[in-house]
Amino acid sequence: MPNYPEEHKNNAQYQQAKRQGYRARSAFKLFDIQKRYNIFKRAFFILDLGSAPGSWLQVAKKFAVENLDKYHDQYYKRDRFKILGVDIKKVSPIDGVKIVRMDFTKEEFQKEIHLYFQGELLDLILSDASIRKSGNKFSDQAKQFNLCYRILEYTKFLKKNGNIVIKVFQGADYDTFYQFMKKKFIVIKSLKPRSTKKKSNEIYIIGIKRR
Ligand SMILES: C[S@@+](CC[C@H](N)C(=O)[O-])C[C@H]1O[C@@H](n2cnc3c(N)ncnc32)[C@H](O)[C@@H]1O
Repeated sequence: MPNYPEEHKNNAQYQQAKRQGYRARSAFKLFDIQKRYNIFKRAFFILDLGSAPGSWLQVAKKFAVENLDKYHDQYYKRDRFKILGVDIKKVSPIDGVKIVRMDFTKEEFQKEIHLYFQGELLDLILSDASIRKSGNKFSDQAKQFNLCYRILEYTKFLKKNGNIVIKVFQGADYDTFYQFMKKKFIVIKSLKPRSTKKKSNEIYIIGIKRR
C-alpha cells in the first residue's frame, strides 16, 4: 500500500496550492478547465456540489469577485455574487460563501437552494463530487454515474445558457451519460486536466450553454 498522505503531502502541486492559499491541489483542475472553456464568464450565482475541503469554492469566489468588476454591461446585470457549497464533510468557512453540510442528493438540499438563491437561476454548477471508491473500477464508475445523473437534476436551477462541470469516471457508462448530457447542453466537452494524476480514471465533462 502506498503511503497516500505522505505521497500527497510531498506532491509538488499540493505544496504549490498551499503556497497560493488554496486548500487543495484540485484548485488547479478548475483553473485548467477555466483556461480552456471560460466557464466563469459572467458567473455570479454558483453552486458547488461536493465542496470539501473548499478549493473549488475559493476559485469560484475569485472569479465571481473579478466578474463584478469586469461586467458592467447592459447584457447581464448582477450586482453581487452568491456561491453555495455543500458537502457531507465539514468545510471550513469562506467569507461571503454559504456552505451547508448535508447529502446533496437529499430532498432538503433543494430547499437550501431555494432559500439561498431566492428563486434566481444559477449561472454555473460545479461538481467535483466523488463516491467513496471501493477499488472495484467497474462498480465505482457505475456508482459515480448514478451520482452524476442525480447531479444533472440540479440543472433545473440553471439558467438558459448556463454551464456545468461534472466529474465522472471513465468506463462503460460514459457514452450513455455523454449522450444524455447532449440533450441538455448545446456544447459538450470533456477534459482531463493536466493536474489530474495520470493513473486516475477521473475526467470532467463540461456542459456549455444549457438548452
Ligand atoms: C474530491 S472532493 C471535492 C474537492 C473540492 N472540489 C475541492 O476542491 O476542495 C469530493 C467531495 O464530494 C463529497 N460528496 C460526494 N457525494 C456527496 C453527496 N451526496 N453529498 C455531499 N457531498 C458529497 C465528498 O464528501 C468529498 O468531500
